[in-house]
Amino acid sequence: MRAPELSIIVPVFNERANIAPLVGLVAEALPDVVWELIFVDDNSPDGTSDEIKALAAKDSRVRGIRRVGRRGLSGASIEGMLSSSAPYVAVMDGDLQHDERVLVRMLALIRSPGVDLVIATRERDRGTITGLSDKRSFVSDFGRFLSRLVIKNDVKDPMSGFFMIRRELVEQAAPKLATEGFKILADILATTPGALTIRETPYVFRERQHGESKLDARVAFDYLGFLFHHLTGRLVPIRFFLFGLVGALGVVVHLAALRAMLSGLPTLGFDGAQIGATLIAMASNFILNNQLTYRDRRLHGVKFLIGFVLFALSCSVGLVANVGIARVIYSDGQVWWLAGLAGAVTGSVFNYVTSGLFVWRKS
Ligand code: GDD
Ligand code: MN
Repeated sequence: MRAPELSIIVPVFNERANIAPLVGLVAEALPDVVWELIFVDDNSPDGTSDEIKALAAKDSRVRGIRRVGRRGLSGASIEGMLSSSAPYVAVMDGDLQHDERVLVRMLALIRSPGVDLVIATRERDRGTITGLSDKRSFVSDFGRFLSRLVIKNDVKDPMSGFFMIRRELVEQAAPKLATEGFKILADILATTPGALTIRETPYVFRERQHGESKLDARVAFDYLGFLFHHLTGRLVPIRFFLFGLVGALGVVVHLAALRAMLSGLPTLGFDGAQIGATLIAMASNFILNNQLTYRDRRLHGVKFLIGFVLFALSCSVGLVANVGIARVIYSDGQVWWLAGLAGAVTGSVFNYVTSGLFVWRKS
């Protein structure tokens, strides 16, 4: 049997009902191509992997990677692409919103000498993208506008989740790509500045028939983190940006709680109110990090309670580090704001590292 020329990577989460139709449609769309479909499922509770493996047992062109203890569209796409040995790889959603009939055109384009990347660009129908609500169209336009900050290539749809690329380029870029978030194409574009020869081909984004979208309002924060990550030359991880955002909000919560307790519960005294406000801010930071920063490793039930205790402990140690560094710097030059800032940054980095190691551990 001939080795595939094209691997189609399909990240899936809870898409059981879409798997078999997708395989049928892809087979119909690519009669003259040696292709393979690689589904990457993050251990979906709806049994998506069972469905994939049942089909793979009947059709050797279908393969399935089942990832456990991990979540994320970007990471899943990267792992799928790296599992391929075909010259070309495509990434396509598994919910039938991407039109598989475009694959033929994309393949013809990428086969032309010198072309590195082909993007399937969502066609605008009366100024909006079909399959996207008005609100999402706006968010999507605004996101594209902001993407100019980090993406130097002039492409119409850097937010597309549907593209084909020479695998060799992914192999090179892989160590630099972020596994958090969902902007895989934008990440590839931002890490390979200006170097790629790109073609775009339009298609109509379809409505979803089965299942539901996994991308919610929180992806807007991920996106800001993504921009910050690239603006800092990939120094600051996407997750640290979210952690910092939650921390900054924590300061506001702290001050509000302190004020409320000072006026509402005067018997506590200042020290009591300060301790109370600290606990409230820690709890609010913990909950927000669990919902946002570490939603892919979210803790529930008893683990949530144990996590909170560990988080409070690690924050307390972080506070000691914070005060220690601030004191050293203050004694050096008496610049209060520099000392305060250095302490706060040290404490945040410390908390971030310990949170990832002990509280929201990779399973
Ligand atoms: N393995 C894995 N893990 N797959 C995931 C995960 C995950 O954590 N989250 C989502 N997916 C899969 C879905 O099952 C689907 O096949 C595909 O990724 C896209 O997810 P949707 O939840 O359907 O995303 P969408 O339709 O809202 O967003 C699409 O359009 C965006 C532009 O508006 C995607 O193509 C995005 O990549 C794109 O940026
Ligand atoms: Mn979708």
